[in-house]
Amino acid sequence: MFSVAIDGPSGAGKSSVSKAVAKAAGFVHVDTGALYRSLAYTAIKNNVEISDISAVDKMLSNLDVALKLDNGEQKVYVNGDDVTPYLRTEDVSMAASNISKIPSVRAFLLETQRRAARENNVIMDGRDIATVVLPDADVKVFLTASAEKRAERRYKELLAKNEEVEYNKILEDVIKRDKQDTERETAPLKPSEESVIVDTTSMTFEESVRAITDLIKERI
Ligand code: DC
Repeated sequence: MFSVAIDGPSGAGKSSVSKAVAKAAGFVHVDTGALYRSLAYTAIKNNVEISDISAVDKMLSNLDVALKLDNGEQKVYVNGDDVTPYLRTEDVSMAASNISKIPSVRAFLLETQRRAARENNVIMDGRDIATVVLPDADVKVFLTASAEKRAERRYKELLAKNEEVEYNKILEDVIKRDKQDTERETAPLKPSEESVIVDTTSMTFEESVRAITDLIKERI
């Protein structure tokens, strides 16, 4: 199997770029952030306090999280229910960043991610794919962009969905999440020694897709 690891901060375009590259290359795209989001969503829904590790552990002991593909689109199921439509709100984003700091949460999701890469040619995006989940990935990319550019993209995405948003609040959240994701003790966000850094601040979407497709072609 061939695997591509795409790590980077929130809003760098990992998911949309990975999706396009996966389509062009015939690979399966695995969005690992959705797994952390599914746990955050489940905690919020069940009033589980994320700062209470034993309460989170208790929640995990009753959970089955599964990745499924539906027409090439990834869906996340929690105890048999498709939770995919509820994962992309600002509340779930922040809660996902918080819950992902807990080592038992990361251990809980590890095998699901590795299994996906054993069974498919994957392009997997996240924070620790090259460093922890798939250290033997064939291609390792760290996709990044300035915080302002990432906040601007997120702002436009939310406006397009008619959500009421404030740019400054989004920028604040982006910076806060970067800090949390980078400074946590377990599997912090960082490029692996072999990762190729791709900075998309002044790149178009198509240029970002091409940069990664070219790296894959070099390795195949
Ligand atoms: O990629 P995303 O924004 O959907 O991820 C949501 C949160 O999940 C992010 O703030 C950090 C966490 N995450 C992680 O810790 N490790 C991953 N491989 C993917 C996401």
